[in-house]
Amino acid sequence: MERNIIIRNATLVTPLGNEAVRGDGMGSISVRGQMTIAVREGVITDVLPDTDWQADGNSYKEIDAAGRVVLPGFVDSHTHLIFGGYRPDEFGWRLNGESYMSIMERGGGIQSTVNSTRTATCDELVEKAGWFINRMVEMGVTTVEAKSGYGLDTATEVKMLDAISRLAEDPERKLDVVSTFLGAHAVPSEYKGRTGEYVDLIINEMIPVVKGKAKFFDIFTEKNVFEIEDSRRMLEAARQAGFKLKLHADEIVTLGGAELAAEMGAVSADHLLHVSDEGIRMMAEKGTVATLLPLTAFALKEPFAPARKFIEAGAAVALATDLNPGSCFSGSIPLTIALACIYMKMTIEETITALTLNGAAAVGMADQIGSVEVGKRGNLVMLEFSNYHMLPYYVGMNCVNTTIHDGRIVYQA
Ligand code: NIG
Ligand code: FE
Repeated sequence: MERNIIIRNATLVTPLGNEAVRGDGMGSISVRGQMTIAVREGVITDVLPDTDWQADGNSYKEIDAAGRVVLPGFVDSHTHLIFGGYRPDEFGWRLNGESYMSIMERGGGIQSTVNSTRTATCDELVEKAGWFINRMVEMGVTTVEAKSGYGLDTATEVKMLDAISRLAEDPERKLDVVSTFLGAHAVPSEYKGRTGEYVDLIINEMIPVVKGKAKFFDIFTEKNVFEIEDSRRMLEAARQAGFKLKLHADEIVTLGGAELAAEMGAVSADHLLHVSDEGIRMMAEKGTVATLLPLTAFALKEPFAPARKFIEAGAAVALATDLNPGSCFSGSIPLTIALACIYMKMTIEETITALTLNGAAAVGMADQIGSVEVGKRGNLVMLEFSNYHMLPYYVGMNCVNTTIHDGRIVYQA
């Protein structure tokens, strides 16, 4: 009974299918009024007009969604959820005009969070992440991807991945957590000037140890961090070890990260503020999901990623928050939606697809989540309002009334 829920009188708004939706298709979502959605033991068993529902002998918790929109749970497919400390001073320096990369190059930035994460216990990391998870659930997130990458030594990377798996395996969890190994987030200070040796450490020591502890392997492919050749070496080793691949690509400068992601068969390339036209073309051709992170562009005062060019090229666009203590200390789904619609010129329908089914594809789960269809998991969001256009219109504000994960109510306003 706990995971049996029936929602009646809903305005159901959902993309359809079991894979990423590309190009023009992103705007075609299903909008149906007076709908019933039944979830049994956490799985969606019926999606049909209210008048077609007949009691089936099971007992359900009933929710009346009259005057409310129901959507698939949101998928935040790119976050750095696990971290020690905070970096408010760095934010102040950026307000005074210093660049993200110059702070990083003088030993601040990611390295500063690495120092705090190395001294934190696994318990502390789990507890801190729990606070952020509760905020996510309030905004309708039912799946989050979480990266390591603030250890940059084998022991601390393992500690971070252990923290992620404790969150992922918690029987009381309010959302799903997907794990990504990001040992290639930066060159740690003790390897300064010896990038090749750190790359060797990742390939020869870290990958064999963390194999099986994370689904994805990710890299910060960037000028003066890990450039194309080093990135390719690591991606090849990771692929060989059975990881699916992601890249932080073309975030600060145009380097060819998008092209590399497509060439390597990565599931997604993320950021892409400075992607080349050839990178867009190759990603569309190979079906590499373009995960765009408008909150980061906003927080760094950088131009937004060219969402329309990706969609016009026939690529699949996902949207995510990039929650992290540095470049983007925000996990705001409402602001992500507003920025996507207002500044990236995505339609609200494309934005919904990007935060649901295409986000699901970016974490390799589009066959289980990301749309409200029979057979998918019972991950649902009910809005306060009857019209899904409220999502961008109520700028930066939360429209969520109820969040349901695997047929269980995990948040109610
Ligand atoms: O996605 N650019 C690299 N990684 C993160 C930022 C991490 C940090 O600043 O702590 C990003 O923007
Ligand atoms: Fe990131």
